[in-house]
Amino acid sequence: MNILAFSASSSRHSINRDLVHYAARVLKSDIVPDAKFSYLDLNDFEMPIYSIDREREQGIPTAAHEFYSFIGAADAVLVSFAEHNGYVTSAWKNIHDWMSRINSKVWQGKPMVVLCATPGKRAGAGVLGILESQLPFFGGKVIGIFGIGSWDSAWNQVDQKLVQENDEANLLAALRQLGR
Ligand SMILES: Cc1cc2nc3c(=O)[nH]c(=O)nc-3n(C[C@H](O)[C@H](O)[C@H](O)COP(=O)(O)O)c2cc1C
Repeated sequence: MNILAFSASSSRHSINRDLVHYAARVLKSDIVPDAKFSYLDLNDFEMPIYSIDREREQGIPTAAHEFYSFIGAADAVLVSFAEHNGYVTSAWKNIHDWMSRINSKVWQGKPMVVLCATPGKRAGAGVLGILESQLPFFGGKVIGIFGIGSWDSAWNQVDQKLVQENDEANLLAALRQLGR
């Protein structure tokens, strides 16, 4: 199974990248042993801010086509969304907007596990709630959701793993459908 994995953040120190890499390790060791991961970094897909004028004048950037093709080539998507002001980051919104001009079904019917890590207590409840209702409209088949808050105490930076067993169990539950 080929899984596209990324953090929807442009931060070089993204906690969502830590979470997505950890989830990939758990998925491979406990659920889908033959999983192969392609990891993307949003910084490799920087594009001008979307505008209809730019699209008319310059067309859709190659990077948007490339990202869209990565989704198309995957069997499933594992993505951890950083929450900015209750929604996704500008970096992700821009890539998404450009890709939506190729096809509004950006996720191309792929099964998705959607994650979110936040330093605050709400565990991305805002962005995850919106995404849960929006992703199907954009062609995403959401099969698992996991949000984790209070990241500094929930994450063991030395061992690169979640501290609490019940957090790990909830992550496993979100990933489980990928093995079915
Ligand atoms: C502009 C901005 C807005 C933010 N808004 C939220 C928010 O709405 N909810 C939240 O829990 N954290 C918010 N944060 C804190 C982020 O969750 C935190 O920076 C986190 O590390 C982002 O994930 P990342 O490290 O993967 O980029 C915000 C941070 C910034 C810079």
